[in-house]
Amino acid sequence: MAKKRILSGMRPTGKLHLGNYLGALENWIALQDEYQNYHLVADYHVLTTDLSTDEIYSNTIEMVTDWLAAGLDPEKSPMFRQSKIKEHTELFLIFSMLITKARLERNPTLKEQVRDLNIENLVYGHLGYPVLQAADILLYKGEVVPVGEDQLPHIEITREIARKFNTQYSPDSPVFPEPEGKITSFARLPGLDGQRMSKSVGNTILLSDGPEIVTQKLRKAVTDPQKLRKNDLGRPEVCLVFTYHKKFNPQDIPEIEADCRSGVLGCVDCKLRCASKINEILAPILEKRKTYENDLNKVIDILHDGESKAGLVAKQTMDEVHQKMTIG
Ligand code: TRP
Repeated sequence: MAKKRILSGMRPTGKLHLGNYLGALENWIALQDEYQNYHLVADYHVLTTDLSTDEIYSNTIEMVTDWLAAGLDPEKSPMFRQSKIKEHTELFLIFSMLITKARLERNPTLKEQVRDLNIENLVYGHLGYPVLQAADILLYKGEVVPVGEDQLPHIEITREIARKFNTQYSPDSPVFPEPEGKITSFARLPGLDGQRMSKSVGNTILLSDGPEIVTQKLRKAVTDPQKLRKNDLGRPEVCLVFTYHKKFNPQDIPEIEADCRSGVLGCVDCKLRCASKINEILAPILEKRKTYENDLNKVIDILHDGESKAGLVAKQTMDEVHQKMTIG
């Protein structure tokens, strides 16, 4: 039986942090044997919040290098730039006829961005962000979309657009699947200050951070504010570092929890233990990253190869769309 298809992507904003990794990338890698994966660099989507294109190329290379270093296998999971496959823009245009402005204005992810980024005059393309995302997914007939939690409203819009297209143009045999979002069990890893992890805030650990940097960053992480001295009794449930232990050091959790509560374990030691676990996990990623950094042409070749594979699928889907719509 043919494998189900995954389509997922990220905007190229540069090097990835642990939140990006746990939120999506780890899942992509875990699922690449069971599914047929396609992964896109959403280089048109970045324009919705930043018109400058100066860094898109270097950010793309950094991000794809992280994907590869973390274990995404280009043979199993073609990777490509959205802007290189022209069918995205065409399908985006067609889909933009199938959804109302009011529906797009209700998108909670958009509302959050408008608030967080203080956007006063929303551009048309930003309102249409999920429409382009629907085109990304449905061009490859993606059935499963592993993403961060904040993307689920966009998957819901994608389902509505798929349904609308199918009923309008192909009621007897649906062209598009109604994709499902898939979030990781650890969907949100807070930043080192306990707030949402974000590069602009500077509270991240990057996948490409070396051991000294990770240790230094963890030293500054917030802990239980009432545990001031080593022997003070701690409350793991309010401690950020404990959250990190839960993810990166699950086997030591009972001991750390007990020793924090009883005051045997101080925050400095606890942080160092956590840093060394994270470093263990990052070590092979760093190692692999180095091989790509020394041969960036390889990364570019991988993208070109992904782009020719993706292009074939995109063309097939658009042929079908043209046929069903009897235009184009
Ligand atoms: N909107 C996604 C994000 O910001 C990136 C993205 C673009 C995407 N196209 C996609 C994710 C298609 C999944 C499927 O993270």
